[in-house]
Amino acid sequence: MPQHAHITLTVNGEPTDVAFAPYKTLLEVLREDLILAGTKHGCELGECGACAVLLDGQPVLSCLVLGVDCGGREITTVEGLASDGRLHPLQDAFADLGAAQCGYCTPGFLVTAKALLDEHPHPTRHQIRDALSGCLCRCTGYQQIFEAVEAAIATSDSRLSTTDSRSRT
Ligand code: FES
Ligand code: FES
Repeated sequence: MPQHAHITLTVNGEPTDVAFAPYKTLLEVLREDLILAGTKHGCELGECGACAVLLDGQPVLSCLVLGVDCGGREITTVEGLASDGRLHPLQDAFADLGAAQCGYCTPGFLVTAKALLDEHPHPTRHQIRDALSGCLCRCTGYQQIFEAVEAAIATSDSRLSTTDSRSRT
């Protein structure tokens, strides 16, 4: 086995080259080689959701994905959620509504919720619970998390309607 794998991929919108030991998981490559420590190390068994990232727009558990399988793919981590110097509505809502306490689970919840809202901008509470069912939180309680996702939907709607009315003037 070669000592280093070398791949090119897109991380948070930036074309990125990275070399790493070929046995590493995507989680390890992100944290150790790309120094993106927002994605958290939890169980490393696919059971807690702390390591969730988006791979080509779909949530995956990065502890279960090999880095060598990510060449040419597009990864979004929690560091990539803010844009134009503005937090994502989900990030604002989690902070405002107390949906994060220690915050260890939060990156996984945020990226998983983003994938849900990208696909279903107006999910029901049931769809939110279902989409987030693979993410575990030991300290906040899930009610605040579900409410924060719903608040983010309302904020996104009002940002969109402000943008629409500006573009009409
Ligand atoms: S660290 Fe990947 S699911 Fe727990
Ligand atoms: S906020 Fe602490 S584990 Fe979820």
